[in-house]
Amino acid sequence: MFRFETAGESHGECLVATLTGLPAGIPISLQAVNRELWRRQQGYGRGGRMKIETDRAEIVAGVRHSKTIGSPIAIVIHNQDWANWTEILPVEDLDGAEDRRKPVTRPRPGHADLAGAIKYNFHDARYILERASARETTARVAIGAMAKALLGEFGICVLSHVVAVGSERLDRAVEWEELVALSRRDEVLLGCVDRVVEARMKAVVDEAFRTGDTVGGVFEVVARGLPIGLGSHVTWDSRLDGRLAQAIVSMQAVKGVEVGYAAEGAASFGSKVQDTIHYDREGRRFRRGANRAGGLEGGITNGQDLVVRGMLKPISTLRRPLESVDLETREPALAAYERSDVCVVPAAGVIGEAMVAIVLAQAFLEKFGGDALAETRRNYESYLEQVKNF
Ligand SMILES: Cc1cc2nc3c(=O)[nH]c(=O)nc-3n(C[C@H](O)[C@H](O)[C@H](O)COP(=O)(O)O)c2cc1C
Repeated sequence: MFRFETAGESHGECLVATLTGLPAGIPISLQAVNRELWRRQQGYGRGGRMKIETDRAEIVAGVRHSKTIGSPIAIVIHNQDWANWTEILPVEDLDGAEDRRKPVTRPRPGHADLAGAIKYNFHDARYILERASARETTARVAIGAMAKALLGEFGICVLSHVVAVGSERLDRAVEWEELVALSRRDEVLLGCVDRVVEARMKAVVDEAFRTGDTVGGVFEVVARGLPIGLGSHVTWDSRLDGRLAQAIVSMQAVKGVEVGYAAEGAASFGSKVQDTIHYDREGRRFRRGANRAGGLEGGITNGQDLVVRGMLKPISTLRRPLESVDLETREPALAAYERSDVCVVPAAGVIGEAMVAIVLAQAFLEKFGGDALAETRRNYESYLEQVKNF
């Protein structure tokens, strides 16, 4: 079983991720992992935190001589900001620690602050927001890079782009080559393949900066090179669409998910929505009239590109704080403000890629298994032969 866990607080020493279930022999490039971490930190509209952090993964277990060895993988990513928090968030309750705390007593609407404080019985939401923060996704992206390394061995590639920021939308289909070029850019504005639309998106973020507000948007993740047959229709929890939905909505600030062209489909007639089936006798393979389903039918990959979108609400912390209540006095008070992002849609796309890659790697290994890459490959190739002769 490909399984991962993460630990770490936003302003703690480090983030930690562990991963079990990757077969031995998968080539791992630290440079590729760090490139993914760098991509997660980019985009116009990020707050001051990203200027402090330059994320670098340290792999401390499970990889030797640039290959997985089948044992659990452990990754550490240090928080450079920790230097400023050693006395505010110490592990041990030192003398005078009480005076150095930075308590959050005015919970921010749209955050886990209030519900978390009540649930965990803290009158300081600090302990809640430290873990609820999307800083945690750094660890997910590192794990996603491992998942991508496995998928890459089988010609499967996962990329993303930004479809909308606030009300500005890209209203055309995107070519795969555009996504590849986007992923190679060394300067990231808003992660949109169309520079004209991207400039309009930037104007929306500028307006939010000007007015002390925030914006959300939509990202799209596309996976190419998938075999037919990952996931299954047989039980609710083996359906890949459901598993992807959970992975995407588990991301901080993501409130909606779309598989294929779901919203458009819901407003159309059935005759216009389903992807017709054709047969190419010369190539001896089935072909589809379109890919409105986003590569999934009945929770099973159908060999077309997998297309999943995530919808982000605007960031909850506003420079112009919203109404709240002080946890101590119970009097009306403006919500706490801490350095915050204004727009994170491109970063969310990168995190979305990681989450999709993780779910695909899980489904891939469920189907093809193997303790070592060569065994996984044999199983995979034998299945491809079966599909070819179908
Ligand atoms: C990449 C990324 C960065 C984020 N940065 C911030 C931030 O700087 N300030 C903030 O208030 N929320 C930020 N969020 C969103 C919050 O973490 C999230 O809204 C909050 O934890 C509550 O969870 P929920 O919105 O999923 O209910 C970010 C989300 C992502 C995906």
